[in-house]
Amino acid sequence: MQSVAALLQLVSVLFCLVRLSELVLGQETVLSATPRTVPLINRSPYFDAWTSAPEGGDHHPSPAGAAVTSWSGRNLSWNGFIRVDGEVYQWMGNETSFTAAKTRHMYVTATRTVYTMEVGEFGELGFNVTFLSPVEAKDLVKFSMPFAYVYLDVFSKDGAHSVELYCEAGAHFVTRRNDTMEWDTIQTPGTVYHELHARTIIPSEQSDVAEHGTLYIGMRNSPEATHQSGPPAQTRARFSETGTLANTKDERSSRLTALAEDFPVFALSVNLGTVQTESPRIVFTIGHVRRELVSANLGVVLNFERRTSYFWSQYSTIGEVIDAFLGEFSGALVRAEELETTIMREAGAVSTEYSDLVALSLRQTMAAVEITLPQLGVLDEAGWNTSDVQAFMRDTGVSARGNPVETMYAAMPALLYLNPTILQMLLKPLFKFQASDEYRNVYASYDLGSTYTWAMGNNSNTESLAVESCSSMLIIAYISARQTNDFSLLHRYSSLLGEWAEYLVENSYNMKKDQITADGIPAANHSNLSLKTILGIHAMSRIQAILSPHGISSDSAVYYRNQSTTLARRWEEQAFVGGHMTSVFNQPATWAMMYNYYPVTLFAPALFSRELFQEHAKFLVLQLDASLAAEILPLTYDSLDSQISKSHWTMLTAATVDDRDIRDRLIDTIHHRTFWRGTTEPFATTWNVNTGTAIERGGRASPAQGAMFALLASEVFNDSTSGESGPTDPTTSPKPNIAAIAGGVVGGVASILLIAGAYVLYRRRKNAERLGSGNDSPVESISADGPITVALAPQQLLITPFECPIAHPSPLQIPPPSKEKFMHQQSQDSESRTDAAPANGPALYPSPPTSAAGSEQRSVLGTALQGSSLVREVEQLRRQVDELRAQRGQETFRSIAPSDAPPTYIP
Ligand SMILES: *[C@@H]1O[C@H](CO)[C@@H](O)[C@H](O)[C@H]1NC(C)=O
Ligand SMILES: *[C@@H]1O[C@H](CO)[C@@H](O)[C@H](O)[C@H]1NC(C)=O
Ligand SMILES: *[C@@H]1O[C@H](CO)[C@@H](O)[C@H](O)[C@H]1NC(C)=O
Ligand SMILES: *[C@@H]1O[C@H](CO)[C@@H](O)[C@H](O)[C@H]1NC(C)=O
Ligand SMILES: *[C@@H]1O[C@H](CO)[C@@H](O)[C@H](O)[C@H]1NC(C)=O
Ligand SMILES: *[C@@H]1O[C@H](CO)[C@@H](O)[C@H](O)[C@H]1NC(C)=O
Ligand SMILES: *[C@@H]1O[C@H](CO)[C@@H](O)[C@H](O)[C@H]1NC(C)=O
Ligand SMILES: *[C@@H]1O[C@H](CO)[C@@H](O)[C@H](O)[C@H]1NC(C)=O
Repeated sequence: MQSVAALLQLVSVLFCLVRLSELVLGQETVLSATPRTVPLINRSPYFDAWTSAPEGGDHHPSPAGAAVTSWSGRNLSWNGFIRVDGEVYQWMGNETSFTAAKTRHMYVTATRTVYTMEVGEFGELGFNVTFLSPVEAKDLVKFSMPFAYVYLDVFSKDGAHSVELYCEAGAHFVTRRNDTMEWDTIQTPGTVYHELHARTIIPSEQSDVAEHGTLYIGMRNSPEATHQSGPPAQTRARFSETGTLANTKDERSSRLTALAEDFPVFALSVNLGTVQTESPRIVFTIGHVRRELVSANLGVVLNFERRTSYFWSQYSTIGEVIDAFLGEFSGALVRAEELETTIMREAGAVSTEYSDLVALSLRQTMAAVEITLPQLGVLDEAGWNTSDVQAFMRDTGVSARGNPVETMYAAMPALLYLNPTILQMLLKPLFKFQASDEYRNVYASYDLGSTYTWAMGNNSNTESLAVESCSSMLIIAYISARQTNDFSLLHRYSSLLGEWAEYLVENSYNMKKDQITADGIPAANHSNLSLKTILGIHAMSRIQAILSPHGISSDSAVYYRNQSTTLARRWEEQAFVGGHMTSVFNQPATWAMMYNYYPVTLFAPALFSRELFQEHAKFLVLQLDASLAAEILPLTYDSLDSQISKSHWTMLTAATVDDRDIRDRLIDTIHHRTFWRGTTEPFATTWNVNTGTAIERGGRASPAQGAMFALLASEVFNDSTSGESGPTDPTTSPKPNIAAIAGGVVGGVASILLIAGAYVLYRRRKNAERLGSGNDSPVESISADGPITVALAPQQLLITPFECPIAHPSPLQIPPPSKEKFMHQQSQDSESRTDAAPANGPALYPSPPTSAAGSEQRSVLGTALQGSSLVREVEQLRRQVDELRAQRGQETFRSIAPSDAPPTYIP
């Protein structure tokens, strides 16, 4: 008897220990602050969900009683309810008259956003809602599954309550057109799920929506689980009255269009019965799948190939995928917590602020990356070629460019840390296109074109960005090869790399007049860009050392090393003037963050004098103090663009600073802005220092935030040239269970027609572009029933940053607008009020002598400081913007009607 009691005691002690360790583990993973807008889901460039706290006060950013939107502010109309003793409350969404649950507590981790809510007069019934977006960068099958979990734990504080849960989603996730939709509800032995897609599949994006996605929402099947599709009024009323759903499917499918008043919602419900203390955990999954993920250049016949998600190498039906994803839940949660713990521990060694930023950047950075496989034949059944894995990245938050090289460069630290193989996969399609006969330029391309999900390559004249792109490609190619110990890309594309390196040798000091940096700043004599070219050349010497049997003493390695060393000496003389690094050579009145020094610290520490850069860091602190004194948000990244601050470049700079106080102060500037409650943009890269708001197209939810990993990546990067550098885990080897290639029925006329149709569309769009119909080529009418008649020319895709109608002023006069500003101007958005500050900002550092600017020198800030306080000014601007945004939001929704103009971008 006693021994049993003792045993019980032991068990309960053990249980407590387990709970305790869970608690400790839990706390280690939690961010110290909550931004005003939090990510709920981040799983692909077209599948994300966010929610914001209302303005003012201390509100939690909670979906209970609030709208859930995409990063661009698009209403997703995603709803969740809980029914307690017959009374219904909303835990997500704001579209019904049900009372919203109270959010008592919430926290964010690197992969989860967790709420503790309660309902009832005394909050007697509580529940936790968790949104989990797994980031499994080393397991490409799991990484590429565009699904997320939403799970609930219900607990009662005062005994028995009868409880039912409900979750619904609809057409807002998959389309902005008013097309006819198709849907179904499927039960496998293990799961029940709904699927929904537009009838007319258009393999491209429009206004940030991929118009060829299918929505899935599912859960474990059980006697307690019910489902229904039907008009929202019906499903909600049924749940409200009975706590269950009818297990019926809306049969009106054939003629219902996405924007119809009574368009069905797709609902799932679980009856938890009576909850005395705690309920079992209920897990929903939601996913957004594009069978044809991207269309990439092939260089032959029809000119492009269909590429699909890597996870199809493992599964053959979507039912299997959903079964597996739900079945994997516990494992996924454990792995997510492990990753969070590791990141928070390692980043926490720098500072709490730093770990907050790293954790917040994780989901959005990795969601912009898609791992793909090509199809072997025209039919799905033909299978996928797993030896040709390529990755694609969308320039989320700025444009619809595919594999934007400068964004990949900014995101490099995260990928280096999480899985450097992905960097190589991202380089692959760029290399492949540029090595083909089709590519005409002698320098590296800036991207794969501006119309993702078409990644056809960019054959335009992009020479103005050539030095930037050549350098990025060489640097990323070297660093990723070194870290993975996989030199195959270097071998295969050595002549391309050589061409680019030669281009840099010729251009690092004699840049053509019209060259600009990725930020839109004239490149001539620009020390920061020049620094990058020198580093690009140096990377080539390392590449040659790998390629040549004579290693570092091979002629070509020596040649590039000598080139870069000579250039570096000259650079130091011209760039380091007046005790700091100038932005323009020999112009001590200019200065810039030398974030391109970051890769130097990774693989070429001896190339430049480290002392000079540390000297410069001290100078940056003076600028920081000056910003603070001027009551503007620190810190602009270049005196030539003095209104703008960029989190990614600031972090790369911070990672090069030896002095911990200075480093931490730079990090704190990013933290301060990111967690500032004044604006609602999802973690944006580029903001106006006067207002603190992200500029239009200022990198909201951008993968460039992968730069936050810069300090962690420095720790893991191993440049031992012995070739024995510790490689990170190899990615899971592709599973060979691919359908046999042989005998594939290739007679699928329908499929051929499909491809031909898509090709015609592509050609038409090309033609439209050639005719310069650019910005205003309308999306041709999309009839609900008719054939596909769509020109794939969403308006905002054609806003190109570098076709500025105005001539570039000389760098010392009016600072040219940054890349995002260009886009902003061209989008002639009403939001321009926010950053309408005159070009010349406050002179934090003695202004260079200018002839023109003169009276324009007075900035918004100047005025603000003289008159009312800046704070009030900002508040007012923000209100105006919010109003405008609200108005525009409505307009946009109206404009989706088929006969209307193409939908406009909602910020
Ligand atoms: C929710 O909707 C109600 C009325 O429909 C509105 O008064 C309230 O402001 C909304 N709340 C939020 C957070 O959107
Ligand atoms: C989102 O869309 C739904 C359905 O069209 C609508 O009822 C709701 O009011 C919208 N919410 C917001 C915040 O626009
Ligand atoms: C709900 O979340 C809170 C806060 O994170 C936690 O303390 C509690 O244990 C959770 N409850 C359940 C039932 O998971
Ligand atoms: C699969 O891809 C590899 C690498 O690109 C290529 O060499 C091979 O020929 C492809 N296989 C087939 C059957 O197309
Ligand atoms: C190539 O890139 C430039 C710069 O982003 C852009 O202006 C141009 O439209 C692109 N060309 C194509 C074919 O996408
Ligand atoms: C760059 O600097 C050199 C000498 O310092 C000067 O000759 C040249 O004109 C400058 N180029 C531009 C475009 O300003
Ligand atoms: C510094 O150089 C980088 C890369 O070459 C470029 O992206 C950035 O715009 C430059 N900074 C400025 C202020 O021009
Ligand atoms: C969508 O199309 C249907 C059928 O053509 C039409 O009745 C409805 O008014 C349209 N809705 C919107 C918002 O344009």
